[in-house]
Amino acid sequence: MPKKVIAIDGPAGAGKSTVARIVAERLNYLYIDTGAMYRALTYKAMIKNIPLENEASLTELAENTEITLFSQEGQLKVLCDGTDVTQEIRDPKVSKNVSLVALVPGVRKKMVRMQQQLAQKGGVVMDGRDITTIVLPQADCKIFLTASVEERGKRRCLELAQKGYHVSPKKVQEDIDQRDLLDTLRKVGPLMQTPDAFLIDSTGLSIETIVGKILDRCEKGE
Ligand code: DC
Repeated sequence: MPKKVIAIDGPAGAGKSTVARIVAERLNYLYIDTGAMYRALTYKAMIKNIPLENEASLTELAENTEITLFSQEGQLKVLCDGTDVTQEIRDPKVSKNVSLVALVPGVRKKMVRMQQQLAQKGGVVMDGRDITTIVLPQADCKIFLTASVEERGKRRCLELAQKGYHVSPKKVQEDIDQRDLLDTLRKVGPLMQTPDAFLIDSTGLSIETIVGKILDRCEKGE
């Protein structure tokens, strides 16, 4: 069977990365977490003390940064200029700043180019905010994955606690609301559902059920 391209978009905490990783494993495809790419660049900008409102510097940084994603023992590893930043990019401080970096048109241009190159040969599952719209509009299968705001907040809290970050549910919720707003309202590559994307509301659904729905949809070639 020819290798397909699967594009998944949705808001923070909808469960995209968990299910996208499993779908990729089942199909023996490459999983590309584009949020991790924006996070890696944000982390580098923070380390270098680049003001996050300085679009020109952020664009230049993006042009001079190499981000590599690969899977190791079922875990996604992220390298930024050869350094493993897998843990660091999940820090709540990075989560707070990443939407500001992702607003910058020059940054998005570079990211989109890298992501399109990664998907060129097919056999990929890519998730993010603008994958079904800007990065891979011709994808074989397009999914828009969402969940209620409450459930997304709970999931993010749990995910952070598992990584050793204990943040109050209120704080996590505020962060998600703020990111949803910035991700949806930005001028370039905003988060939105296209008419040809299959909507899955994952509220109350098990991971296995969501994975099954995506695999079904992709098998049907939609
Ligand atoms: O999926 P995530 O929470 O790791 O994404 C981190 C941030 O990156 C999110 O706030 C929006 C941004 N992002 C984006 O603008 N475009 C993408 N394709 C992926 C993520």
